[in-house]
Amino acid sequence: MLNPIRLANNNFLSSLDISSQELFHILEIAINFKNNNLNIELKDKVLGLIFDKSSTRTRVSFQVAMSRLGGTTVDLLPSTSQIGRGEPIRDTARVLSRYCDVLAIRTFNQSDLEEYAKWSSKPVINALTDLEHPCQALADYMTMKEEFFDFKDIVLTFIGDGNNVANSLILCGALLGVEVRIACPKGYEPKSQIIEKAYEIYKNKDLLKITNDPITAAKGANVLYTDVWSSMGEENQKEEKDKDFLGFTIDNNIVRNAEKNAIILHCLPAYRDKEITDEVIESKKSRIFEQAENRMHVQQALLSCLVS
Ligand code: CP
Ligand code: NVA
Repeated sequence: MLNPIRLANNNFLSSLDISSQELFHILEIAINFKNNNLNIELKDKVLGLIFDKSSTRTRVSFQVAMSRLGGTTVDLLPSTSQIGRGEPIRDTARVLSRYCDVLAIRTFNQSDLEEYAKWSSKPVINALTDLEHPCQALADYMTMKEEFFDFKDIVLTFIGDGNNVANSLILCGALLGVEVRIACPKGYEPKSQIIEKAYEIYKNKDLLKITNDPITAAKGANVLYTDVWSSMGEENQKEEKDKDFLGFTIDNNIVRNAEKNAIILHCLPAYRDKEITDEVIESKKSRIFEQAENRMHVQQALLSCLVS
């Protein structure tokens, strides 16, 4: 029977915290969980969840993942805990890690997440920051593996904002050797620090392309992926971004340019008829709800590899 291997790194703050081998292993474990081929217990273990931003999928998939493993969760919000009062992260982290066996945190600055990890005596997981959404990328690549089996056969085109979701897709794509194309309006490219890191990992540097042309990027793609144009925390930029992103909606015209076997992904929540049409979300090509389900399976796998 497949057994989860303990990750070399104690935390999962970034897609860069795992090796390519560990990433393949997590996906393998996740698929086995999904097929009910694994019976791993984290009995009596407690996952502490801290959400400084809203969440439906990440919160519930972590809660259910932990419950399926025989453990429990506690869910903290700034408004109902002392976090909102401004208690220093170094105090919160030291206290919570004495009660809990692992922490998953959704916050704004990656440096705040790193501060939690610095002071926590237990593993810390990134449940989304402005910089990365690495748990999402695990579910995304699991969904692609289920569809296409071999990552060498995949061209992934992300059309939209060079945001946290795009960043983690790029980094995991580099670890898995997937061809990743990012198409975004000028000025909305992913951060250069992410692109440089990815190029350091890719054996074949041609596999990562950043472009401002969504139609060309969609040609030959097996996966079309998008996310909201304005992320949480960018509400005041919505009007301007909606204008800047005109032409970047995944609609039937863009889908027609992709391969015949192409699937559609979106991390959700979506703004229908902004970054993606309602028709495309509901089309036969959409794997968006399988992708959402896979959040639970990959997080079960991740927890099994981090907590013992
Ligand atoms: N995709 C995702 O992280 O969704 P939530 O914001 O609902 O957690
Ligand atoms: N980029 C989005 C993802 C939401 C799951 C955000 O950060 O709001």
